Amino acid sequence: MASVPSLAATVHQRVANALSAALPEAGSADPLLRRSDRADFQANGLLALAKKLKGNPRELAAQVVGVLDGTAEGAERPADDVVQDVEVSGPGFLNITISDQAIVRTLAARAADARLGVPYAEHPGTTVIDYAQPNVAKEMHVGHLRSAVIGDAVVRILEFSGEQVVRRHHIGDWGTQFGMLIQYLIEHPHELDHGGEGEVSGEEAMSNLGRLYKASRVLFDSDEEFKARSRDRVVALQAGDEETLALWQRFVDESKIYFYSVFDKLDMEIRDPDVVGESGYNDMLDETCRLLEESGVAVRSEGALCVFFDEFKGPDGKPTPLIVRKSNGGYGYAATDLSAIRDRVHNLKANTLLYVVDARQSLHFRMVFETARRAGWLGDDVRAVQLAFGTVLGKDGKPFKTREGETVRLVDLLDEAVDRAAVVVREKAEDLTEEEIAERAAQVGIGAIKYADLSTSAARDYKFDLDQMVSLNGDTSVYLQYAYARIQSILRKAGDARPAAHPELALAPAERALGLHLDQFAETLAEVAEAYEPHKLAAYLYQLASHYTTFYSECPVLKADSPAQVENRLFLCDLTARTLHQGMALLGIRTPERL
Ligand code: ARG
Repeated sequence: MASVPSLAATVHQRVANALSAALPEAGSADPLLRRSDRADFQANGLLALAKKLKGNPRELAAQVVGVLDGTAEGAERPADDVVQDVEVSGPGFLNITISDQAIVRTLAARAADARLGVPYAEHPGTTVIDYAQPNVAKEMHVGHLRSAVIGDAVVRILEFSGEQVVRRHHIGDWGTQFGMLIQYLIEHPHELDHGGEGEVSGEEAMSNLGRLYKASRVLFDSDEEFKARSRDRVVALQAGDEETLALWQRFVDESKIYFYSVFDKLDMEIRDPDVVGESGYNDMLDETCRLLEESGVAVRSEGALCVFFDEFKGPDGKPTPLIVRKSNGGYGYAATDLSAIRDRVHNLKANTLLYVVDARQSLHFRMVFETARRAGWLGDDVRAVQLAFGTVLGKDGKPFKTREGETVRLVDLLDEAVDRAAVVVREKAEDLTEEEIAERAAQVGIGAIKYADLSTSAARDYKFDLDQMVSLNGDTSVYLQYAYARIQSILRKAGDARPAAHPELALAPAERALGLHLDQFAETLAEVAEAYEPHKLAAYLYQLASHYTTFYSECPVLKADSPAQVENRLFLCDLTARTLHQGMALLGIRTPERL
């Protein structure tokens, strides 16, 4: 496991050294290196420096060039010739061109490493990530899909960076609605029984729950006596009455069958011990409220226990409080989240708390974080971040609903994506069996849904458009998966020729562009992990596939001019495939070997 310095890092160092050699009075000025269209890199730092030193930027730039290209007096030309050419341009920029051999040599070092030369984070910590948190006895919807897909990618990216990651699936498994559900089940004891033998499927489980939910709701709204019995049932549940808890557990278990079936379809591993729902913090709620009240962070207002903020006001201009305990003594969502923070910081030792939750809950989290800070549960050494995501819209640009105006069932969406993918796979399939087509269709269809979600910045709303998602053209996972499969097919056809780096060969423009982009993988990942931005990884991979497509059309691989060039091009193919595979895996998307 050797981390490989990127060409950008190497060049940055070279230019910085040359800068301080040429202009000792500059101290350690940043050369401000950027990727550039004009050359491989451009350094813009001399403009600011010239201002500071009251010099002419072009003249200063020329002095730095002298050191870099070895023409300055006493300058030594760097032994390994990373920088092939450097010239002054415009008002005082440096345009820097890397040598072909430096590119191939760096890529060879990446290829020799199982992590493609990607370093671990310098200061890893512990992140507790709250994601994939559906609600018991309710259908999952597209919002739950987003949390799961984004959260899963972020977990993978952080773990790859060396971060210790604790997953928490904060499912909605508590609340007054359970009084109604449990009471209904007591009065209709066979409603959750499974007819027949064998295991119940996720869909059956959900349809049982859905039916029960509807029936109990109808009764609750129409029958005052049932309503009263349901209210008593909530009290019994909160008091820990055993029979009531046992029935509550049945709802949770039944729901988990459903959740796991959906996560399974999503090709996502959710582990049972990580499912710590709202109910998991019941024992802490009293104490959380007591501590808040004793410290004066929360005060009683109209019988409720509230936290007030100057900065959060409702539309009427009155302050919107965070209600920690309702006037009837019931605890809400906030009390649970505050208790969860205490648990995650004190017991799980988190340095970072990350919440992958709908942007519509942003006010809640801002108030919860601020309350926890005031209470001293969140110190300066702990970061709390809501990775807030936008709404999934239908083709019409309105929140995604069925034609009847109902929430779209997640399972139906996933199945439809897989069906559409099957059509695409079948069209292209040359020698695939039916079984293989089904397997690929699942990988392509689910990949398409994940990629569509991950390729736009999480904060933005996006349109759910299956036609676009499974399209072979454009920024889709299918395009990336085909690029990968095409490379694998070339590698299979190569016969005895093996991928091997040949730094002595001159590179064609498309080879250089591909090579320079391959070299940016580690830097991209560091940025993506730092700011929780999987869409930047998606964009990187899409560009990689595009560079590859250009390379493939401009540079014959197996029919290249010399055996060495065949090997070198196979090497570029192979490293591209490995980078695509690794990048897609970090997004939770499969790359089938054949498509
Ligand atoms: N179950 C909630 C929902 O469906 C999301 C929970 C988010 N996590 C949290 N700690 N509040 O909207």
